[in-house]
Amino acid sequence: MAEQKATNVTWHEHKVTTAERAKLNGHKGAVLWFTGLSACGKSTIANAVDAMLFEMGKHSYILDGDNIRMGLNKNLGFSAEDRAENIRRIGEVAKLFAHGGTITLTAFISPYKADRDKVREILQPGEFVEILVDASVETCEQRDPKGLYKKARAGEIKNFTGISDPYEAPEKPELVLDSNNKGIEELAKEVIAYLEQKGYFAA
Ligand code: ADX
Repeated sequence: MAEQKATNVTWHEHKVTTAERAKLNGHKGAVLWFTGLSACGKSTIANAVDAMLFEMGKHSYILDGDNIRMGLNKNLGFSAEDRAENIRRIGEVAKLFAHGGTITLTAFISPYKADRDKVREILQPGEFVEILVDASVETCEQRDPKGLYKKARAGEIKNFTGISDPYEAPEKPELVLDSNNKGIEELAKEVIAYLEQKGYFAA
């Protein structure tokens, strides 16, 4: 848990409520938390879902691994401690977006269960939708779009998830996407169908 350093700070309730924003938008805000190995398809699927939501007239936005690590989290590396802080900050930002009414898609490996569970805890029931993008290390290593698995195998990248660092798959994710066998479009549609079925597209 991050230390509360600032003193003399007071929590301010907003005049416009999250429920009122949902009513204006005609849909709920939520965090769609994609988790899985590097190159499992998280970002690509999240982008496809985002585009579908946009077409449907929903308010959505993606917080994406490599991009966030070039800005907000540029001072963090890949130790367990830094990954925890990476996920904590992203969780807090995603919460702000979701409470602002946006369907917020996050695409981070987020390998540790405890870090993901902490994000779930700061959100209301139903606001955190954990989506496991399930692809084996073999599948991801075969794709290897950034050549990182090759480097990790050669010992050029330390603490590489799936090779020299752990990945703790969620035990009870809201959704599992079979990225070993299915294509991007099909998987993105599964996410949209889930949101539809669970009532996210109604205020
Ligand atoms: S997380 O573990 O803290 O959630 P995050 O999703 O932000 O990771 O960043 C993962 C991306 O950083 C990978 O897709 C890859 O491009 C890059 N990367 C660089 N070093 C590593 C590493 N040691 N382990 C995993 N990914 C790494």
